[in-house]
Amino acid sequence: MQTGFHFPFGGLAFTISTMRRAIYPGSFDPVTNGHLDIIERGCKLFDEIIVAILVHPEKQPFFTIDERREMLSQVLQQINRGACAVRVDDFQGLLVQYAVAQQANAIVRGIRAISDYEYELQMALMNRRLEPSIETVFMMPAETYSYVSSRLVKEVFELGGTLDGLVPPAVEARMKKKVKRTAND
Ligand code: PNS
Repeated sequence: MQTGFHFPFGGLAFTISTMRRAIYPGSFDPVTNGHLDIIERGCKLFDEIIVAILVHPEKQPFFTIDERREMLSQVLQQINRGACAVRVDDFQGLLVQYAVAQQANAIVRGIRAISDYEYELQMALMNRRLEPSIETVFMMPAETYSYVSSRLVKEVFELGGTLDGLVPPAVEARMKKKVKRTAND
C-alpha cells in the first residue's frame, strides 16, 4: 500500500510518500510462532515490514542464511498480513545503517518479558544515538509465546521434545530433515 500526497507543481508533479516501512531484525534461527505473531501485529501499524536476518560470520548457526530466508518466505504466506507488504532480506553490519539504506522509519522488536527489556532498551538507545531518525517500536507477543525463543526451541528439539505450537510445522519438519541429513553426512 503506497500512501502519500501528490502535488502538481508548475507542470511537474511530485509525491511525498507517507509509507511507513519498518525493519524487523533478528537471527531467526529458526523463525518461531512468537516472531510470526509480532509480524502480524506489526502489519497493523506499518505498510511494509522487512524481516531482516543478521548475517553473523562468527556465530555457528543451526540454519544457513539461505535456509532461514527460504523458511521465512514460506511461513510468512500463512500469516494474516492485511495490506502490509512483508519481505525477507539479510544484512551485515550496523542495523541502523541498513535501516537508513532501506528508507525505513522504524525498527520493530518484540519484548516478551521484563528480562528482555534491559537489553532491548540498551540497543534501542544506542541505535537512536547512532541514527536519531529511526524509531524503535517495542511490541508484545501473545502471552502464549511469552517464553518462546529460538534458543529454547533448538534446545528442546535437540533433547527430543515436541515443538508443537512453538514453531510452524514446516519449520519443525525442516529441523528434523536437517538433523537427519547431517547424521547421514
Ligand atoms: O534476534 P536477535 O538475535 O536478538 O537479534 C539481534 C539483532 C540482530 C537485532 C542485533 O544483534 C543487531 O541489531 N545486530 C546488528 C549489529 C548492530 O547494529 N549492533 C549495534 C546495535 S546497538
